[in-house]
Amino acid sequence: MKVLSVASEFYPLVKTGGLADVVGALPGALKGQDIEMRPFLPGYRAVMAAAEGGPALLKLADLFGGPAWIRSGKSGEISLLILDAPHLYDRPGNPYLGPDGLDWPDNAQRFAALAAAAAMVARGAVAGLRPDIIHAHDWQAGLVAAYLHYQDGARPGVVMTVHNIAYQGQFSAELLAMLGLPPESLSIDGIAHHGQIGYLKAGLQLADRVTTVSPGYAAELLSAEFGMGFEGLFRARAGIMSGILNGIDEEIWNPATDPQLAASFDAKHLRGRARNKAAVQERMGLKQDQSALLFGIVSRLVWQKGIDLMLASVPSLLACGAQLAVLGTGEPAIEAALRDAAARHSGRIGCVIGFDEGLSHLMQAGVDALLVPSRFEPCGLTQLYALRYGAIPVVARVGGLADTVIDANPMALAAGVATGVQFSNPDEAMLQAAIRRTAGLWQHKPAWRQMQRNAMASDVSWHEPARQYAALYRSLQLARALI
Ligand code: ADP
Ligand code: GLC
Repeated sequence: MKVLSVASEFYPLVKTGGLADVVGALPGALKGQDIEMRPFLPGYRAVMAAAEGGPALLKLADLFGGPAWIRSGKSGEISLLILDAPHLYDRPGNPYLGPDGLDWPDNAQRFAALAAAAAMVARGAVAGLRPDIIHAHDWQAGLVAAYLHYQDGARPGVVMTVHNIAYQGQFSAELLAMLGLPPESLSIDGIAHHGQIGYLKAGLQLADRVTTVSPGYAAELLSAEFGMGFEGLFRARAGIMSGILNGIDEEIWNPATDPQLAASFDAKHLRGRARNKAAVQERMGLKQDQSALLFGIVSRLVWQKGIDLMLASVPSLLACGAQLAVLGTGEPAIEAALRDAAARHSGRIGCVIGFDEGLSHLMQAGVDALLVPSRFEPCGLTQLYALRYGAIPVVARVGGLADTVIDANPMALAAGVATGVQFSNPDEAMLQAAIRRTAGLWQHKPAWRQMQRNAMASDVSWHEPARQYAALYRSLQLARALI
């Protein structure tokens, strides 16, 4: 079975968050299920430079204002399709933002182009590459479902995955003519969303199946608190919706072989962690102290991630004798507040503002506990990397965080199954209580070691998620064959 995966990020070529990791790992994970997944992504400058470019398979004379080519490409073992459209993508840096830190003004065109070109491939425009299923990720790929719905011709089934409902891709209704979609598409049953064009809305409304990245988030999306205006749509479509947990790439994230670490280790030989802890302390300007409980954060610095709650909890953390190391990039105000906290508590709090893949690995290997105080979290990958690296995850009890961490409550400790610490209602008081509880656990080294061993034995692989995606694709293909 052939699946075309359409997304705006792909690890290792272009990454701002977990979407890239998931899109990058799925093709390898699905091979074992006899599924040939081909990612289709925009030819940003970095992608054109890094992907082993292949020949043009199709030329489009005019795709939203300029010529474009669909090219084959390769990243490691994975065969790609790349939309080479220099007028839309030949730009430096972040895939969504210009040098001023604002969205590119033509993002509506940039991602409509991705969807329109994907729809052509879906209908067999590239010889030999007609997919059985289209798997669209997030708002950037949402219009694929619309192009397939409103234009004539046989089409494959469409699966739409929402990785984060906060990013909806809303644009002015005046752009409808530019999109090349018919006037009737701008309706409540189509792409209209609160008087605008909604790219994610289009995908959620018109796809054959909707998934999100954890069962917990799938349930939360039905509520006004988490649905962010889409709860009604999700309730209406609950019958075709499911949550499939993300996995992690266990080759890239393997503490026994990871080249980014100061020392390798595994569940039986945890001693190497001490050298990684020392390396993190050095890199973050923290006092060299193996006995201090070292908390870490690796995160986009946005409201979702609750970093402000962490900043408000600094006094409690310091009162426990702990240290804090933060790696992140995002909103300037949060970046400034972190720098300020590091300056005021030099040696106890350290931060690196920026995106640093190598350091993110070292952090997982060196911190004692990884904090994820998110207000909402569709799945979350950093707590999965933490589990694998024996960093105890301390997480808000939301979405995928709730689904993946077993809280060290008295029963779980007695049963010897705890893998981390959870706290409810992400707010300052709850986070502070969780920090104190973690510090208490840190005092009992045998119990801590047991938690580390449990964490490292957690199944965070793609094995079961890949099986579930494969089953979903197959059942959709069967359902469409019966139409
Ligand atoms: P989200 O997709 O919401 O950002 P996830 O936890 O799913 O959250 O994925 C985040 C991914 O981005 C992880 O691979 C994490 O290691 C990585 N990451 C986040 N911030 C940074 C950073 N500043 N430097 C390096 N990697 C980062
Ligand atoms: C989103 C979510 C995150 C999830 C990631 C990959 O960015 O915020 O929770 O892990 O997508 O699915």
